[in-house]
Amino acid sequence: MSPAEAQSRIAQLRATVAQHDELYYRRAKPEITDFDYDQLKAELAALEQTHPDLAAAAGAETPTARVGDDRTDGFARVKHRQAMTTLDNTYDEGELREFHARLAKALGAEELVYTVEPKIDGVAISLTYEHGKLTRAVTRGDGEEGDDVTANVRTIRGLPQSLRGPVVPQVMEIRGEIFLREEEFRRINQLQEELGVEPYANPRNLAAGTLKQLDAGVVGSRRLEIVLYGVGHCDPVVGQSQSEFHEHLLGWGLPVVEPFFVVCGVDAVWAAIQEIDRGRGGLVYGTDGAVVKLDAFGQQRHPKIGYRGMTADGRAEAARKLSPRWACAYKFAPDRAETRVRDITIQVGRTGALTPVAELEPVFLAGTTVKRATLHNADEIARKDVRVGDAVLVEKAGEIIPAVVAVLVEKRPATSVPFAFPRQCPVCTTVAVRGEGEVVWRCPNPACPEKIRRRIEHFASKGGLDIDGLGEEVVALLLAKQLIATIPDIYRLKREHLLPLKKSGEIWAGNLITAIAASRTADLWRVVFGLGIPQVGAAAAKDLARTFRSLEALAEATESELLRIDGFGEKTAAALQAWCAEPGNRALVHELHAVGLIPTPPAAAGSALTGKTFVLTGALPTLTREEAAAKIEAAGGRVSGSVSKKTHYVLAGEEAGSKLEKAKTLGVPVIDEAEFLRMVAGAT
Ligand code: IVH
Repeated sequence: MSPAEAQSRIAQLRATVAQHDELYYRRAKPEITDFDYDQLKAELAALEQTHPDLAAAAGAETPTARVGDDRTDGFARVKHRQAMTTLDNTYDEGELREFHARLAKALGAEELVYTVEPKIDGVAISLTYEHGKLTRAVTRGDGEEGDDVTANVRTIRGLPQSLRGPVVPQVMEIRGEIFLREEEFRRINQLQEELGVEPYANPRNLAAGTLKQLDAGVVGSRRLEIVLYGVGHCDPVVGQSQSEFHEHLLGWGLPVVEPFFVVCGVDAVWAAIQEIDRGRGGLVYGTDGAVVKLDAFGQQRHPKIGYRGMTADGRAEAARKLSPRWACAYKFAPDRAETRVRDITIQVGRTGALTPVAELEPVFLAGTTVKRATLHNADEIARKDVRVGDAVLVEKAGEIIPAVVAVLVEKRPATSVPFAFPRQCPVCTTVAVRGEGEVVWRCPNPACPEKIRRRIEHFASKGGLDIDGLGEEVVALLLAKQLIATIPDIYRLKREHLLPLKKSGEIWAGNLITAIAASRTADLWRVVFGLGIPQVGAAAAKDLARTFRSLEALAEATESELLRIDGFGEKTAAALQAWCAEPGNRALVHELHAVGLIPTPPAAAGSALTGKTFVLTGALPTLTREEAAAKIEAAGGRVSGSVSKKTHYVLAGEEAGSKLEKAKTLGVPVIDEAEFLRMVAGAT
């Protein structure tokens, strides 16, 4: 590469990496895989190292000399007492052995003791405990200063607000990672899809997006979890090594990273890494590698070791500490497989969103056979230039939804042509539209049969009116036989319409008609949710039902009435008003009334729990959380995920954690199950 080429490549890579840093850290919406990102960054670092003069000439601003910045608007900024650095990483066993060789040389010893543990694919966090009490939770930010997300972190179950004694330092920063389990990720994404909102690509993005929510109530409704693995500032210092600190974390009652190995020598390090790799499918968090740390704090601080970005005697050579020389992340290469794109089809969603899907030659990948992979949207196809007939690499990182990560252009058939994203809905042929600033093309036709099918499915689904027996297949059958064409048609169905559809269909028809009849008095919130109003999920539907008490009143809601609802922002209010303003939707509300759908509003005002907000914590002696919540809602109360000054009661059971503490701090009354049952009985 000529110097001119190197210089332009450096400039190009700096811009690209900086753009991906912004997407990953600040917006939690990466567009390339971690593997591809790491490769770009490694290429840049190598070029900067071989051409230090060119690198300097191109200016000091390079993403290799800073930590990806996650700070966003809306949060107070807090300086870390000790900087939060990042880690050097490698995908190569040879480089891991070189890491050890450097340390062995610096310390003049071959048999070094290391800790080896999973690298958690989550969001870095720093907790401050003062005199054993949790006082702050701060994101990494730019490494020096991060966002104060204390209120959100306090909603995490399983994170003690106070440490168990006896040895508790006065002030201590503890570093760890916040993550979401796979099941929780799927649950939330399903809701996102039902809301017509773009789903999150993986648990890490969802955890990052959740941590940066401005509404702690939303955070409390998603089950974030945390593990802790390191120490920042600590006064007085506790322990002499990583492994001793790990023991202290356990003693304080904090969740730690598992499995955790203490090993001697590089071969044992490699064996531990392989053991983590073999077992990683069974871990609750996603792991993308293993972190190897020199165990003894004394050795970490050795003048020849310390941090990258600082000289041996502690003088800064970069703007700040970058990464420790005493630690290294070994990353597992993602599971990838090569296959061919048979076709690109377009899926039409309930909201009309047109989603392109790659139909693949079936390929076995990370334990399952993959036949389809989402291509997200038109821009994404164009960016990757995915074509029908292309050989592609599909990747399934951490058992997540498979994605097409690269096209093998060299294997492209000569006859292939770029994919032309349809300008019309593939089902009803209406010209597709794209809102300003939106990436998604939509079918705007309210009568599009596919949208209707999906809307009816959603209306009858478990989360909606929960009409037993009216699942995907039956909806499709009723539509095909032209027995229904709209949601209100469900209520016009008669037993005799259904009888001919199935052989000996008496019982089936009877059950379905009974289930439909039962749904005529469904809870109002189910109907609000079932209508599929953009931005209105189950929680918002419950708030709306409580506030407006009928669909007709809801249809007339003014913006100021909507904004008065706790947790409603302008976006939700605007989406709801736009929906209500649509003549077709108003007609739908009237028609539902006309066919006899008279939803049941929440318990009438006047009962003791009306307008009261409850927070549940700990395990109750007889009721499950769901049962307690149902009782509260039935009596007109509301359940919230986090304690605030607006909370009326905290219903606490065994092993109640942070919420109980918070209730005590804020002076919110705490009641037990017996007292709660008396209140409910008095209320009804
Ligand atoms: S130790 C001085 N241990 O990975 C750096 N980090 O890519 C101390 N991470 O910034 C980090 N699991 O957010 C450490 N077991 C683990 C980790 C871990 C995940 C994160 C951490 C770090 C990033 C570097």
